[in-house]
Amino acid sequence: MTLVDDLQAPVSDHELDRRKALGILTGAAFAIAGGGTAITTIRYMRPNVLFEPPTKVTIGSVADIPMGTLLVLIEQKLYIAHTDEGIFAMSSVCTHLGCMTRYDAEKNAIACPCHGSKFDAAGNVTGGPAPRPLVRKQITLEGGVLIVDTRKDVGESFVLKV
Ligand code: FES
Repeated sequence: MTLVDDLQAPVSDHELDRRKALGILTGAAFAIAGGGTAITTIRYMRPNVLFEPPTKVTIGSVADIPMGTLLVLIEQKLYIAHTDEGIFAMSSVCTHLGCMTRYDAEKNAIACPCHGSKFDAAGNVTGGPAPRPLVRKQITLEGGVLIVDTRKDVGESFVLKV
């Protein structure tokens, strides 16, 4: 019986190609795993910030909203009303289940298309299932410019005297 020393045996070209291929595949696997780990780590390190629209809305000057006007700001989901008591801002989101209400200028009333809630021009409930008036938002006069902060709710009777 003779022993064959594999390490001493000449390597065929075919064997060399197989080793090279396995080396390349192993390197690629490590590169993919390392890259995936690096990407995951970088994503983990970055804060997961949710970009939201600004909460302060610039309305304009008092003169831009004549007495008796109900200004509808669809994108900002706001109504701005100028009455003889002053100016106030209301959310246009229905207090029932959160649908967007619509202002009917002919009836001078606000209605919700979802379940039929109705509000007067001051946001008070006049019909339907809405449990509360439309939510008033903080409105301030800064340097002659009206600014609404949509994050801050104020009382149902809040009016900015102008
Ligand atoms: S969401 Fe407005 S009436 Fe229901």
